[in-house]
Amino acid sequence: MRFGITVSASLLALGLTSCGGNTPAPSPDDPSVETPEEIPLEVAPFDPDEPRSGGTTTVFHTGPEAFVQPIANITVERKSRFLLGEANFEVDWIPAPASQRDRDGLGPLFHATSCLACHVANGRGAPVTGNTKAPASLLVRLSVPGTGPHGEPVPEPTYGDQFQPRSIDGVPSEGQVQVTYESLPAMPLQGAASVTLQAPRYTLVELGYGPLAPDVRLSPRIAQPMVGLGLLAAIPDATLLAWADPDDRDGNGIRGRPNRVWSAKEGREVLGRFGWKANQPDLEHQAAGALLGDMGLTSTLFPQTPCTPAQPRCQQGATGGEPEVDAANLASLSDYSHLIAVPARRGADREDVRTGKAAFLRAGCDRCHRPATTTSELPGFPELSHQRIWPYTDLLLHDLGEALADGRADHLATGSEWRTPPLWGLGLTATVNGHTRLLHDGRARSVLEAILWHGGEARASREAVQRMSPKERAALLTFLDSL
Ligand code: HEC
Ligand code: HEC
Repeated sequence: MRFGITVSASLLALGLTSCGGNTPAPSPDDPSVETPEEIPLEVAPFDPDEPRSGGTTTVFHTGPEAFVQPIANITVERKSRFLLGEANFEVDWIPAPASQRDRDGLGPLFHATSCLACHVANGRGAPVTGNTKAPASLLVRLSVPGTGPHGEPVPEPTYGDQFQPRSIDGVPSEGQVQVTYESLPAMPLQGAASVTLQAPRYTLVELGYGPLAPDVRLSPRIAQPMVGLGLLAAIPDATLLAWADPDDRDGNGIRGRPNRVWSAKEGREVLGRFGWKANQPDLEHQAAGALLGDMGLTSTLFPQTPCTPAQPRCQQGATGGEPEVDAANLASLSDYSHLIAVPARRGADREDVRTGKAAFLRAGCDRCHRPATTTSELPGFPELSHQRIWPYTDLLLHDLGEALADGRADHLATGSEWRTPPLWGLGLTATVNGHTRLLHDGRARSVLEAILWHGGEARASREAVQRMSPKERAALLTFLDSL
C-alpha cells in the first residue's frame, strides 16, 4: 500500500478523482484505491468468431507482409483487379511529358510520387522527427474559417487545401513542414511510473508563395493503415445512425455523430466514413482525392488541377492528359482499397488476452471502438457482404478534447472531433512498419501513450486506465496487441 498512497496523491493533484479532501477515506468505490493484486481479474468470455476479424475475408499472415494480402475469399476474376490496383498503388508517377504516357502528370506541386510512399507496406506512416525536412507520410491540410458550397473547408487562398512540400522542375515548392515536440506534465498511473507525453508543434517554413493567411488552420495527418477498408465501406448507414447519440440521450457522456460530406459522384450529401475526420464518403473519392491532393494527378472524378490563382507557374505546368488518371485506373485503385484483407487476431482465446478484453469493456473503450458488427450488401462486392466483422470502430466523430484538437473544421467535424479509428491490425504495427507511432499525426509513441492522449468524451475511459492496477493495465495492452 506504500505505493498506493504516493500514487493516489499525485492522481489527486491532477484532479483525477472527484473527492475534494486531502485525505479521502478509502471505500470500495473509491477509484483512486488500487485493486489489490490478490483479487482475480475478470476474464471476458471468448466468442469463437472473434479471431477472424474480417469474417471469411480474414487472412492469417503475421509477418511484415500482413497488410498487403488480398481478402481470403477473393475470386480469380477479382484477383486480377486487385493486382492491377496494387500496381497502380505502388507505381511512381513522373512529370509530364514523358514517354510513359500512362504514368506521367505528377505535380506540378505534390507531396509524394506514389500511394505506397506514404502508406508504407499498406500500414501507417510515421511523422517526421527532429528538424528533418525529408518528405514523409505526414501531410498538412490547410483552410481558412468558413465553409464552401458543399460544407467543405475553405482552402487557404494562396496555398490551397493541402501543403505541398515538393514540385516539378521550374515550379517553386510550397515549403517545408517542421515538427518539434515539447514534453507535457507527467501523466500519473496507479502503481507504475508516470508517462510524459510529447505534444507536437508545427511550423510551415521556406514558404514558396509568400505568407499564409493570418487565420489559416492546419491539420497535420499521418497516412492510415489500408486493411479492411472494403468491410468498413460495407457497414450499412443504418448501423452508424443507430450508434450515433449526438445529444447523449443515454447520459453516458459519449455522443458520436456521423460526418456528412459531399459525394461528387452522386451529386449529393452522404455519410462520411474515411479519413481521420470521416471526411471522405467512399474509397473511390479517397483515391481520387489522394491522386489530386498528394500527387497533383487529375482524374475522372476530380478533373481540375489544384493550383491556386497565386500559383501561375503551377497552372501553366505540362499536363499528362485530361484527365491524367482515367476511369479504369481510378477504379482499380478503388477496387484494390476494397480488397485488402484484415489479418486474424493472435491468441484471442488466451486467458491474459481475455482479461484485457474485460478491462477494455470495463473502461468503456467499446462505446466508441465498437467491437463487432455485420456488413450488409455492398454492390459489386459479394465477398464483403454479410460478414460478421470485428473492426473496433463506430466510424463516428467524437470530441476527444482540446489536447488532441487541430482547431480545423472538416465538413461537420469540429476542430476537436475525430473519427474513431478501427483497431484491427493494431498489434502488427511494429512488425509491418517498424514503429508504433499512433493517432492522427503520429504523436503517440506507443499504445499506452495513445490512450493517455484521450480526453473529452473519452476522458472517463482514459482515467479508468490510469486507475487500473498494473496487472490489469498490462492485460489491456496485451489484448490490444492481439488485435
Ligand atoms: C502524402 C502521403 C499520402 C499519399 C501519397 C497517399 N495517402 Fe492515402 N492517406 C494519407 C493520409 C494522411 C490519410 C488520412 C487523410 C485524412 O484524414 O484526410 C490517408 C487516408 C487514406 C485512406 C483512408 C483510410 C481510412 O482508414 O479511412 C485511403 C483509402 C487512402 N488513403 C488511399 C490512398 C490511395 C489509393 C493513394 C494513392 C492514389 C494514397 N492514399 C496516397 C496519406 C497519403
Ligand atoms: C469517445 C470515444 C472513444 C473512447 C471511449 C475511446 N476511444 Fe480510442 N480513439 C477515439 C478516437 C476518436 C481516436 C482518434 C484520435 C486521434 O487520432 O486524434 C482514438 C484513438 C485510439 C487509438 C489509436 C489508434 C490509431 O489508429 O492511431 C487507440 C490505440 C485507442 N484509441 C484505444 C482506446 C482504448 C484502449 C480505449 C479505452 C481505454 C479508448 N480508445 C477509448 C475514440 C475513443
